Amino acid sequence: MDSFFVSTPIYYVNARPHLGHAYTTIVADSVNRLHRLRQKDTFFLTGTDEHGDKIVEAAEKNGLAPKDYADKISSLFKEAWPWLEVENSAFIRTTDPEHVQCVQRFLNTVYEKGDIYFGEYGGHYCFGCERFYTDKELRGGLCPDHLEKPRYLQEKNYFFRMTDYLPALKEHIQNNPDFIQPERYRNEVLGMLGDELTDLCISRPKSRLTWGIELPFDSDYVTYVWFDALINYISALGWPDGEAFRKYWPGAHHLVAKDILKPHAVFWPTMLMSAGVDLYKGLRVHGYWTVQEAKMSKSLGNVVQPMDMVEKYGLAPFRYFLLREMQFGLDASFSEEALVNRLNSDLANDLGNLSNRILAMTNKYFQGLVPEKSELSPEDQEVVDAGLTALDEYVRLFGDFQFSRGLGVLWAFIGRLNKYVDASAPWVLYKEGRTERLQNVMYVLLEGLRKIALHLWPVMPYSSRELLGQLGTDFDLHRVELDQEGGHWTGLTPGVRVAEKSNLFPRRELVLKQDQKPRGSEKKQRESETSSREELVSFEDFKKLNMVTGRVLQADKVQGADKLLKLEVDIGEKEPRSIVAGLARQFDPGDLHGREVVVLANLAPRKIRGVTSHGMVLAVSHGQDMVLLTTTEGTEPGSRVS
Ligand code: MSP
Repeated sequence: MDSFFVSTPIYYVNARPHLGHAYTTIVADSVNRLHRLRQKDTFFLTGTDEHGDKIVEAAEKNGLAPKDYADKISSLFKEAWPWLEVENSAFIRTTDPEHVQCVQRFLNTVYEKGDIYFGEYGGHYCFGCERFYTDKELRGGLCPDHLEKPRYLQEKNYFFRMTDYLPALKEHIQNNPDFIQPERYRNEVLGMLGDELTDLCISRPKSRLTWGIELPFDSDYVTYVWFDALINYISALGWPDGEAFRKYWPGAHHLVAKDILKPHAVFWPTMLMSAGVDLYKGLRVHGYWTVQEAKMSKSLGNVVQPMDMVEKYGLAPFRYFLLREMQFGLDASFSEEALVNRLNSDLANDLGNLSNRILAMTNKYFQGLVPEKSELSPEDQEVVDAGLTALDEYVRLFGDFQFSRGLGVLWAFIGRLNKYVDASAPWVLYKEGRTERLQNVMYVLLEGLRKIALHLWPVMPYSSRELLGQLGTDFDLHRVELDQEGGHWTGLTPGVRVAEKSNLFPRRELVLKQDQKPRGSEKKQRESETSSREELVSFEDFKKLNMVTGRVLQADKVQGADKLLKLEVDIGEKEPRSIVAGLARQFDPGDLHGREVVVLANLAPRKIRGVTSHGMVLAVSHGQDMVLLTTTEGTEPGSRVS
């Protein structure tokens, strides 16, 4: 039996699971389910990455020892997945003793091969990235990712002879177009290999970091966190001689976002080459979800919690939306409006209506029993042929990680069935007593719906099973033969009873938070009741406002808007905030340079005259004038106002 292995990145335990983690994990689950439906022997791996500076820092902030902190956050990930109908085969933690042993064994193998050497190195070390940067890689002397000045460290460390393997890696990528996909990332990696890459520093002296896996050949050092983490993909399978490793590794696919392309496309394959392990089969790379055009971040207050979305709109719409909305490989923008639109149009209108109509007609014309089918008319056969082609294409695209296109094809077929209902008009056939055609039309529709429901199991497992149940068929994973579905339109047994109605995807309204609510009648009424008194806010509400001090680094006029200035304000974050302020009439841009201001930092980003503002600078209007709010003593940017 063919095997299939898919992995997600193992997530750092310095943040709780959010939309980005949920997306990758749901994609992995869906693609894994597709292969399960195809009766492949599958293994789906996820887990947590628990060593290194980042985790030590997060644990310290929370007043916990690294292991206790890792236990806590790791269990949040582990427990989140079943709520999203994610069925992983294993959950690995890099603190698992089996993993630790496996990393040491791998290190020994590479060491004995002569591919690890001890050397002195001076370099710019970014603690956020946990890696050294060369002069060339820095941007204006700053880490290109964190925009912070790295610390110059001169220390003795162990290095992996990565550069020895780069020519072979390049050849492999060139000869195997499927190794890294989508194409843009394959090209990006080939571009990286053209750059001057250096050998990889794979140790950290214990004098500055103890939270890691000790090097088996020098107890004064721990392993660099990426060298440790990447090995999870084979340690979880019991490398080198585990049965699971033998069975699943040949079909291994790693799923990652573009942020961690280099470690997966360069470090990992060269490590495997050195250790004499076959390369994985494919790396599949997706883009980033943004929210209101910005990267999700705690300080912007725009981090999307998957469970909030599931509670508001349901799990099937959430999973469907993620797979449908993002073109795999490109960035996509998340918004609740877009989610609700998809839910109402694709699920409630298209699929929901189709199911309700088909079930209602079967009940009306055949007492709820699936009718017999006889020789089809050319019109009916045309629909069947279109369905077989669409479903075949869907399976192909889905297997190729082109989820959005695959679902597009499936939905085009759903649209076709809705039109077929209108065109064949079963109510007329019934009225005119054309029973044979009526039976055929209804069978074509019922079987089409069954096939759609079955093919949706990877996307929305629960709803798929429900719909199949409504069509009188049990879902038994062991008996499904997705690859056999292509050749026939005869899956439903005539005489089987179907449900009276479906109603799986009710329409939903957008659920806004209190502070996002439009001025509705309820609010107006409340306002009129309190018009004569001040509206009071609770202390809890006040605490939600994140007001901090900041320093204006730059101010520019906004073109075409005589009241507005675009400010770049340092509020103690990695990057300055762009904030649009209505101060142009009162201040020349140059006057604001270096001024200390107070910023409302967690105001939802808003586009003003084409410029996105990430916060608000607070000011007091004073007659025609505006006076900036500031402090008397001057503070560090980012100091909280309370
Ligand atoms: N621990 C490393 C991975 C080691 S794998 C051997 C790591 N962890 S992480 O917690 O930062 O997770 C990064 C991954 O989370 C991304 O590659 C992606 O899968 C997912 N995402 C996090 N934020 C995301 C978005 N905003 N959008 C899409 N996916 C994102 O890197």
